[in-house]
Amino acid sequence: MCGIVGFVGKTNCLPIVYNGLETLEYRGYDSAGIAYIYNNKINIIKEKGKLINLKDKLDFNISSKIAIGHTRWATHGNANKTNAHPHQVGKFTVVHNGIIENYIDLKNKLLKKGYQFKSETDTEVISALLDYNYKLEKDILKSINKTKNELVGSFALGILCSDDIKNIYALRYSSPLILASFTNGNFLASDIPAIINYTNKYILLDDLEIAKLNEDKITIYNKDLKEKKIKYHIFNGEKTSVQKNGYEHFMLKEINEEDKVFKETINSYFDGTLKSLNENFGFLKKYKKFDIVACGSAYHTGVIAKSLIENYANIIVHTEVASEYRYKKCFYDKDTLVILVSQSGETADTLAALRKAKNDKIKTMAIVNVLDSSIAREADYVIYTKAGPEIAVATTKAYVSQLTIFSLITLYLAYINNNLDKIEINNIIKDIKLLPKLIKKEIKNYQTYYNIADKIYHNKQIFFIGRGLDYANSLEGALKLKEISYINSVAYQAGELKHGTISLIENKTPVIAIATDELIIDKTISNIKEIKARNAYVIYVSNTKPKDIFYDDFIQIEKVHPILQSILTIIPLQLLAYKVAKNNKCDIDKPRNLAKSVTVE
Ligand code: M6R
Repeated sequence: MCGIVGFVGKTNCLPIVYNGLETLEYRGYDSAGIAYIYNNKINIIKEKGKLINLKDKLDFNISSKIAIGHTRWATHGNANKTNAHPHQVGKFTVVHNGIIENYIDLKNKLLKKGYQFKSETDTEVISALLDYNYKLEKDILKSINKTKNELVGSFALGILCSDDIKNIYALRYSSPLILASFTNGNFLASDIPAIINYTNKYILLDDLEIAKLNEDKITIYNKDLKEKKIKYHIFNGEKTSVQKNGYEHFMLKEINEEDKVFKETINSYFDGTLKSLNENFGFLKKYKKFDIVACGSAYHTGVIAKSLIENYANIIVHTEVASEYRYKKCFYDKDTLVILVSQSGETADTLAALRKAKNDKIKTMAIVNVLDSSIAREADYVIYTKAGPEIAVATTKAYVSQLTIFSLITLYLAYINNNLDKIEINNIIKDIKLLPKLIKKEIKNYQTYYNIADKIYHNKQIFFIGRGLDYANSLEGALKLKEISYINSVAYQAGELKHGTISLIENKTPVIAIATDELIIDKTISNIKEIKARNAYVIYVSNTKPKDIFYDDFIQIEKVHPILQSILTIIPLQLLAYKVAKNNKCDIDKPRNLAKSVTVE
């Protein structure tokens, strides 16, 4: 949530900071702003709405060598110009990603000291606190250090002080921040896309460390304000992974990468032998129960994993959304492994759930896409998904990579618990090898899904139904559709409809009915017939062509072992959601009110 970029160097910095913000706009797009030093003074330009609104207001030719910028996902106060960052109070100008939980107390204290506030934000309070502490300490670093100890919450900060126009200061706690150098200067940024055009080497700032950046160097100070040795990390991905490469939207590009992502994730942990699974997942043997905790789509992969691991490995799995789990009584013990699933590795609630488990001395494992993200760094075990950078706010390829990891884990646990015979194991391995081709084939069949999207895109509500695994698939299908098209799409267990929801079915109400599990397919079909009898418009998604026609449209998906099936089931639903959103002229990669990385509670 919120993207921040700062640059100080020998070259004109406004284009660099602006371009950096463009690459981070997926983190928030309610307003944007830049503070830059020109004529020895700090100038601030900000605008409501997307970053593009700022473009005309900036003079990219002026020679400014130091600037900080921000693209906002509003937390405190409306998405207007006053609340846009940077926020300046006294000598301090700040851009912020995170939430300050004690900002009201701090604000009251500062009001009593004579400070006045223009915005409703928590960030303006940070600027005032820095200014106040600076008056006491008479030293910028000490003032930042004092301020850091008074803030409660999460923060990644870029800071300018008018008494020191050669340096940018940075600080972080629980919100991501990286630093990087290239020949012409030094950066701070919320994420790698902002720096990748200049360098693939970056530094991770640890919690509560302070950084000072000038045109020559980056200095990092630890908690006691002692200089720390800098350690560089290398981003191994390709530059093109953060570009659209000719696709109209990142979402479409990312769906088209799913076969490659599946292959890369499989190849990282499985060479076709069970021995390789033992090498990578052997540590799981120690645990008798799993708690899977995540948010949004990542949570849905946990719902699927619960069904798979319980059915095939006979192990109890409890799956819960992180925002609930973090505050509830947990019945975990030393036999439990808490599994956190997150694309970004920065989701605030998932991170808090991890910290809660660690605090209770329960072992944790992260399934994470972003290298060295907070969740990856803090978990006891880390399994990386190999989706590469995902830019569209709606997750697609990262979701597939998370399902891929859970398929491997299920296979491994089922094997060590002797729940699968040799023939079934060999069939699964055969399907794993076949899957990239089948994923591609389904993506190529996009016109079928687009034709259906053209028929239903104008509806105000669309239902998804399924049983068991297919209910979990329905949850994700419904989320994908609603988040990018703003159509009210809700998932129900097919058997539950007649206990209330069926009253919502009217003439031609679209119902996307998913049935891939052959053990209960007939039961689902009976439920579909019940809604067809009430004139619903039924879109039937299945891996088996039915004997009779009880649907209006049929999406035939490829049939593979249930351990892998959900990876194929989701593809038509992602593409259908994409086309519905496109027909409705929605901003597909940046849906309203959302942001990619939810770093606030
Ligand atoms: O980065 P994470 O995987 O932890 O994010 C979790 C959710 O915020 C995320 O999956 C969200 O639901 C997506 N917008 C869904 O497309």
